Amino acid sequence: MASPDKLAALFPEESAVSPQFRMPGRIDQREYLVDGEERVWNGPTREVLSPVCLTTPRGIEQQKIGSYPLLDEKEALAALAAAVRAYDNGRGRWPTMAVADRIRHVEDFLFRIKDKRGDVVRLLMWEIGKSLKDSEKEFDRTIEYVRDTIDALKDLDRASSRFTIQQGIIGQIRRAPLGVVLCMGPFNYPLNETFTTLIPALIMGNTVIFKPPKLGVLLHRPLLEAFRDSFPRGVVNTVYGEGQTIVPPLMSSGQINVLAFIGTARVANTIRKQHPKPHRMRCVLGLDAKNAAIVLPDADLDLAVRECVLGALSFNGQRCTALKMLFVHTSVAADFLRRLSGAVAQLKPGMPWDDGVNITPLPEPGKPARMAEYVADAQREGAAVVNESGGAASHTFFYPAVLYPVNARMRLWREEQFGPVIPVAPFDDIAEPVRYVEESDYGQQVSIFGTDPEHIARLVDPLVNQVCRVNINSQCQRGPDTFPFAGRKDSAEGTLSVSDALRVFAIRTLVAAKAEEVNKKLITHIVRNHTSNFLSTDFIF
Ligand code: G3H
Repeated sequence: MASPDKLAALFPEESAVSPQFRMPGRIDQREYLVDGEERVWNGPTREVLSPVCLTTPRGIEQQKIGSYPLLDEKEALAALAAAVRAYDNGRGRWPTMAVADRIRHVEDFLFRIKDKRGDVVRLLMWEIGKSLKDSEKEFDRTIEYVRDTIDALKDLDRASSRFTIQQGIIGQIRRAPLGVVLCMGPFNYPLNETFTTLIPALIMGNTVIFKPPKLGVLLHRPLLEAFRDSFPRGVVNTVYGEGQTIVPPLMSSGQINVLAFIGTARVANTIRKQHPKPHRMRCVLGLDAKNAAIVLPDADLDLAVRECVLGALSFNGQRCTALKMLFVHTSVAADFLRRLSGAVAQLKPGMPWDDGVNITPLPEPGKPARMAEYVADAQREGAAVVNESGGAASHTFFYPAVLYPVNARMRLWREEQFGPVIPVAPFDDIAEPVRYVEESDYGQQVSIFGTDPEHIARLVDPLVNQVCRVNINSQCQRGPDTFPFAGRKDSAEGTLSVSDALRVFAIRTLVAAKAEEVNKKLITHIVRNHTSNFLSTDFIF
C-alpha cells in the first residue's frame, strides 16, 4: 500500500541521508563560459528547487539546492559573437583543424570530466530525482558515447583519406562543419541527450552555444572548466536562463546554422520561426512521442508485463521513448491487468539513492497535479484505476496509476503524459491499435508482444512505415546508441546515432580537378608537403 501518508514518510530527515549522497552545500552558480573565459554574472538568478523533499521541524520541504544565472539578451549575444568569431566563416582554428587534432581536444575533455562522475551523479539525483543507478548509467553511457563518437569519426575520416577519379575528374570528398550550433537538451537526460548532439557538433568542427534545460542545470557546472581548458576560445559557450529571453535574439541574428533541440514540437516550431531565413538553418530535433505497445492474444504475458513496466515506468515514465499507451487483446486483458498491477506493486518508491528504488520524486513543478488531472479525466470518461494505491500522491511523489479501459474520449488517448500513468485499452481487432498508430501525430516507436511469427510479420510491415523502430517483445528504447534514433511526424527531425550524428552536423564538400598533369602535380605537392588539412591522405590510426 502506498497511501499519501506512507509516501510522505519516505522523505527522510537530512541526518538520515548518507553523507556521500548529501548535497555538500548550496551551489550558487554565477559563472558562465564565453569566449574561453568564465565570466561572472551579477544579475538575477533562479533558485533551484530539488524534487527531493526532506522532513524538517517545519514539516516536509522541497530542498533549495542552489541557483543559476538568468542571463539577458546582451550576454546571449556575447556568446553568439564568440562562437561566430571562433568559427570565422570556416576560417577559424577549430573548423580548419586536422581531424586528428580535434579528436585530441575531445579526448582531453573526456579525460578531464571522468573524475567529475561523483559530482554529476549526485546532482542528477538532486536536480531531477533520477535514481543513483540510472544517474550512474547516464554518466557512463555519455562517456561511452563520446568514445564511440571518436572511433566513428576515425572510421569516417579513414574512408575520406583518399582521392577518387571518376570520368577524368580527381576528387577528394570530406565532411565539413556547418557553422554555429545552438544545442539545447531535455531535462530527463540533461547530460546524455545534450552530449549526443554537442559532442558530434564539436568534433565535426562547428562552434557551439550550449543552453542547459530548465531543470538539470547545476550538474553541468562541474564540467565548465573542462570545456574552457579543452577547447580553443569561443568554441564552446554556455548560456543560462529563460529560453524566451535568450533564444529569440540568437535566432533572429540569423547566425545560428544548426538548431539541435530536444523538447516539444511546439517550442521547436516557435524557435525555428525566429530565424530570418529558416531554410539556412539545419534542424536536428528530438520531439514528442506517444509510443504504443500492442499485446497480442498469444503473447507471453510475463515477458510482456516485465517489458511494459520497464517501458512505462523507468525514470517514472519521463522518457521520450516510454510506452505511453498499452493496447491489450480483450481475451488476455484481465490476466494482463492483474499481472501488471502486481508488477507495479513490486516497484519500490523512495529517494534516488535508496537501494533498489524505482519510483522517485518528480522534478517538474506541478507534475503530480497534472498526473492527477489525467487520472480524473479518464475516470470521468469511464476508466478506473486498477492497481492498488494507483495515483496516491504526496508533495513531489506520484504513485503509478494503471487506468483501464482507456478510450478515445480521454486526454490520455492522445496526449503525452510523460509521467507515471499507464493507460491500457482493450482491442478485439488488430486493426484498432494499427489505426491508432496511423492516426497518431507521433511516429517514434512501437512495441509488439506475441509469439506467432506470421502474425508478427504481418504487423511489422505496415508499422515500420509508421514509426522508426518496431520492437518485438521488447520495450521501446533509444539504445544501443549505435542504432539509428529517429522519428516520423511530430516526433523528430533528422537521425541520431553515433555515426549518423557526425553526418547531421556536417555537410559533404569536395575538392575536384580535371585529371591533367598540371593538377596532378599540384595536388601531389600539397599532399606531400601537408600544406592542407582537407586535401590530405593522412590516415588516422
Ligand atoms: O527521452 C528520450 C531518450 O532518448 C530515451 O532514451 O530509451 O535510452 O531511455 P532511452
